Amino acid sequence: MRAGYAQHVVPSYKRSAMAPVLVRGKGARVWDADGKEYLDFGSGIAVNCLGHAHPRLAAVMKKQGEELVHVSNLFFHPKQAELAEALVQRTGPGKIFFCNSGAEANEAMIKAVRKAGAQEGRYEVITTINSFHGRTLGMIAASGQERLREGFGPVLPGFVYVPYNDLAAVERAIGVKTVAVMIEGIQGEGGILPAQADYLLGLQKLAKEKGIYLLMDSVQCGHYRTGRFQSYQRILEDAGVKEAFLPDAVSMAKSLGGGFPIGAVWFGSRLAEVLTPGTHATTYGGGALACAVALEILNIIEEEKLDKNIEERGEELKKGLGRLSGKGWVGEVRGFGGMVGVTVKGRTHGEVAEALSGKGLLVVPAGSDVLRFLAPYSVTKEEVQEALKKVEETL
Ligand SMILES: Cc1ncc(COP(=O)(O)O)c(C=O)c1O
Repeated sequence: MRAGYAQHVVPSYKRSAMAPVLVRGKGARVWDADGKEYLDFGSGIAVNCLGHAHPRLAAVMKKQGEELVHVSNLFFHPKQAELAEALVQRTGPGKIFFCNSGAEANEAMIKAVRKAGAQEGRYEVITTINSFHGRTLGMIAASGQERLREGFGPVLPGFVYVPYNDLAAVERAIGVKTVAVMIEGIQGEGGILPAQADYLLGLQKLAKEKGIYLLMDSVQCGHYRTGRFQSYQRILEDAGVKEAFLPDAVSMAKSLGGGFPIGAVWFGSRLAEVLTPGTHATTYGGGALACAVALEILNIIEEEKLDKNIEERGEELKKGLGRLSGKGWVGEVRGFGGMVGVTVKGRTHGEVAEALSGKGLLVVPAGSDVLRFLAPYSVTKEEVQEALKKVEETL
């Protein structure tokens, strides 16, 4: 199996020689080819929001698969309209563009603001240092990490990088060519760094004053991962902010499809009509099967109150990790709900991830020294305690 990868798969991913060969999953657990069980707190990198092999997702895939999988976007089908309405209801007045991944969703946001600013010659987008927006040529240019661009030049121009959570830096960076600012509500790949409430409100105010757009990359932190539909809602609520906050666009992917590829962008009223016929498209975007799956995920999360569950389980996990903070490799604990990060001391995060995997707990490294705990929203109290016990065993 590993030899097959070495022989036939492009070596673009860093897989450790010890990485398990996973063959089966159920809920928060996966099993490898030797029958070893793991608690999966990586969730396919914040994707499997309902865990593995959810019976209702399997059923909807079968049903929709037997009815209609895909038709082109030259036609209508009911599921796309239903999902668009569901996402608009949960985000705010506006419209949805469907695509297939997070990078593509961000590309659509950038294309829309460039088109909106074209007549005035405004195209520049301010993004933040340490941000991650995807691996397309456009999104490696957008991301505030030089290492993503190395060897892939010439880099798409039109992006300016400023420190995260630094409102004054954004203000200084705004010029006549600026059309938008794009941030993650919580920097994920950068190491689980949440935006501050004042920063979000300040960006909203600044965007209004300067006539630019505020874009939220919610690919990783959105779709109830923090216990709220959007991480900015959670951050503002926790800070006791009553003031309304609504960006101009929000990109989504990952948990939106729970493992079935789908991406989307919610465009608020200022941007909803910008991408006119012929200006943007993708063959698979908003396919019937993908939309049926995404709709069922929303139903399950809300019927089973999994948003509340992940909020509470996340608190338990944070508390437990907090108690271990300062012991062994466990440093600072941060984040919310199903997006918790721990800084690693005295070892590399890769070494600790491997040790945890050896104990039967899968987590995901991020940034230079952070481990991400990205549990499925359905994770149980017992599974959180089991994960904490495994962490303790590695200290
Ligand atoms: C915040 C953020 N944006 C965009 C992406 C890219 O998404 P995808 O890999 O689906 O293209 C990611 C992926 O990790 C992400 O975390």
